[in-house]
Amino acid sequence: MSGKNGNVAIIGAQWGDEGKGKVVDYLTQRADIVVRFQGGSNAGHTLVVDGKKYVLHLIPSGIIHPGKVSCIGNGVVLDPIKLLAEIDGLRAAGITVDSKNLKISPFANLVLQYHKDVDVARENNLGDKKIGTTGRGIGPAYEDRVARCGIRVVDLYGDKTRLKELISSNLMKNVGNVDDIDEYMETLQNVADSLRDYVEDVSLLLYNANKEGKTILFEGAQGTLLDVDFGTYPFVTSSSTIAGSAAIGSGVGPSVIGHILGIMKAYVTRVGSGPFPTEAFDSYGDHMSSVGVEFGATTGRKRRCGWFDAVLGRYAVRVNGITSISLMKMDVLCGLDKIKICTGYRLSDGTVVTEVPFQGLYDVDPVYEEMPGWNSIKGCETFDTLPINAQNYIRRLEELLETPVSIMSVGPGREETVVFEQFL
Ligand code: IMP
Repeated sequence: MSGKNGNVAIIGAQWGDEGKGKVVDYLTQRADIVVRFQGGSNAGHTLVVDGKKYVLHLIPSGIIHPGKVSCIGNGVVLDPIKLLAEIDGLRAAGITVDSKNLKISPFANLVLQYHKDVDVARENNLGDKKIGTTGRGIGPAYEDRVARCGIRVVDLYGDKTRLKELISSNLMKNVGNVDDIDEYMETLQNVADSLRDYVEDVSLLLYNANKEGKTILFEGAQGTLLDVDFGTYPFVTSSSTIAGSAAIGSGVGPSVIGHILGIMKAYVTRVGSGPFPTEAFDSYGDHMSSVGVEFGATTGRKRRCGWFDAVLGRYAVRVNGITSISLMKMDVLCGLDKIKICTGYRLSDGTVVTEVPFQGLYDVDPVYEEMPGWNSIKGCETFDTLPINAQNYIRRLEELLETPVSIMSVGPGREETVVFEQFL
């Protein structure tokens, strides 16, 4: 089921913040290599290991495990200052980060200060039409990448005159002057010295590792509905967040990716602007927000909360080719008298659809079915020991999504994970 090596792509199937970090951390115990393939320091992956909390933005969550290799693939936009700070933070927490367990693709594009300045300035200019970006320079850095003028990791180690020309033209393009060019050159020299030992051909490393029978985890960031094509455009991030991107952003062929594990919360959250059909503005939404502690790991912003949307869930299954689902934060729904699932959208002309209309999610009215809630799932270690209403909820989601739930999370800790089906 999972391919010969047990390789797995771990993909956010909603608007991000589904709990990918926890699942990657859990599965890394049985893997050899973890690779990030898109996004940048806009991601915030929270892990709780032995009661200790780690928030990672750029380095794959696998770094917490001794003896595993963490890779930053070519599809990532890499903020080198943030990366160095993250390495320092991990070391201060007693985690080993060295050239053996961290590898950086030479083809990753750098996020520099001017990208962040442009990101923030644009958002300010958009006023109430703003996207609600994380301000981490992600959009401007990806723009430079596709405009073929970005600065890549490999450029740090080439001819200095060419690097200066590159920075000069990028500064002119992004901020309209080259006043800070010497400062940029100095910063990049320091970055080059600090990162030199980590730079390696990640595509080749993965190719050889796969041939040797090693197991690779592909760690997605953000989520399907933030995908630059299939998300709620323009309220999306600037990368492809779906499973196909795992191949492009790490330099492996699509056939190397075995199992595609879609990560979904048992309800839905989103940060930033844009449509959210099942957003709950009542006490149920307040419950999800407070019990689920729904605040962004990167920006600290309050997340919007709402009911599980099976129309969007089915869409995520389709565009990612999801093989099985990891259902997160089931514990947060405990104590509610009823649980709602959105099974369709009523359009403005009264018709009900069960597929996402390509015109967008603005004028859709969710159609719900209701199920009775449950009280506690504490201590449940198998599907059969869950309260019957929780079992029915999971079975109904599987039916609506036409996809099995293989993992369920009942709390933030590594041990608060219930595996229904072993695939790695
Ligand atoms: P950007 O990626 O910073 O350009 O932000 C674009 C949109 O994606 C905004 O709505 C952000 O809130 C959202 N976003 C970016 N990264 C994450 C994430 O890791 N989790 C959830 N939302 C995110």
